Amino acid sequence: MLRNVFKMKSSMAFATVVLALAVSISSCTNDSDDPDPVITLTQEILNQSVNAEDLNVSGTPYGQDVSIPHNGSTISPDSTLRDIYSNVAASASIAPGTVFTKRTHMMNPDGSKGDLQVTFAMIKRESGYNADGGDFEYVMMPFSADNDYSQNPNGMLPDVSQTEMRGKLQMCASCHSKVGSYIFVRQ
Ligand code: HEC
Repeated sequence: MLRNVFKMKSSMAFATVVLALAVSISSCTNDSDDPDPVITLTQEILNQSVNAEDLNVSGTPYGQDVSIPHNGSTISPDSTLRDIYSNVAASASIAPGTVFTKRTHMMNPDGSKGDLQVTFAMIKRESGYNADGGDFEYVMMPFSADNDYSQNPNGMLPDVSQTEMRGKLQMCASCHSKVGSYIFVRQ
């Protein structure tokens, strides 16, 4: 009998601890002041940006000059073919975690697709990450002979420490801010 009372007491104590724990966890996750979870662009996430958004773009159909600097000269938009991809369905909204990539190829004299020059990427980050850049992180990946494009079709993601290649790149944002969504294929 005495033993049973003891058992009951200890199981009640255990239940109280579990309850207290549950309350503290739920009050933590329900706190509306919590910042959005940080979104981290990884090579794996970048590799998933393979859903076609607009292919074989040439000239300036979106109304902006997209010349690219190359070996001291400039390649005009009429000499390139650009393929744009995302990691979401074309109808999906641009929620945090959405990635867009643009692969810029040379156009051969016969109009066919030539060598890849550079891949650009943008990922929609948590709100407040980059107020002047639409909360996007911007990435530049020039063609690299070291990359296996069958494995990493958009290129090799630079490390976050390479701040001239990846981050809140003002040069990119200044032009992308001309459209409200910051994404030309989704104006
Ligand atoms: C002078 C304007 C301009 C600048 C600067 C610019 N872009 Fe763009 N970007 C465009 C336009 C216009 C498009 C639409 C496709 C096209 O015409 O090539 C585009 C398309 C893209 C796309 C595909 C998604 C979309 O918006 O349609 C990505 C990703 C991208 N750019 C990334 C970058 C990055 C990263 C930089 C900086 C390294 C950059 N862009 C600099 C004008 C610009």
